[in-house]
Amino acid sequence: MPRLIRHDLTGPIRIDPQDKPVFICGCGLTKNFPFCDGAHKICANEEAGSLYEYDAESHAVVQKTPDTMDQ
Ligand code: FES
Repeated sequence: MPRLIRHDLTGPIRIDPQDKPVFICGCGLTKNFPFCDGAHKICANEEAGSLYEYDAESHAVVQKTPDTMDQ
C-alpha cells in the first residue's frame, strides 16, 4: 500500500555516541535508510509553505503544492 510520509527536516540528524558521528536521515529521501546518503541536498531550495512530492527513484520533484497543514 503506498503512503505519503511527511518529513519537515531538510538534513540529517547527527548522533555522537561513538568515536565518529553517525548521521541519520531526517529528510526521508535516502536510499540507505536509516543513514543519510546525501540525498537531502535536493531539499535545500524548498520554499516554506509548499509541500513537495518526490519520485522515489529519481528524486525528481513530482508535485509541488501549497502546504495546507503548515501552520
Ligand atoms: S538527511 Fe536524508 S539523505 Fe541526508
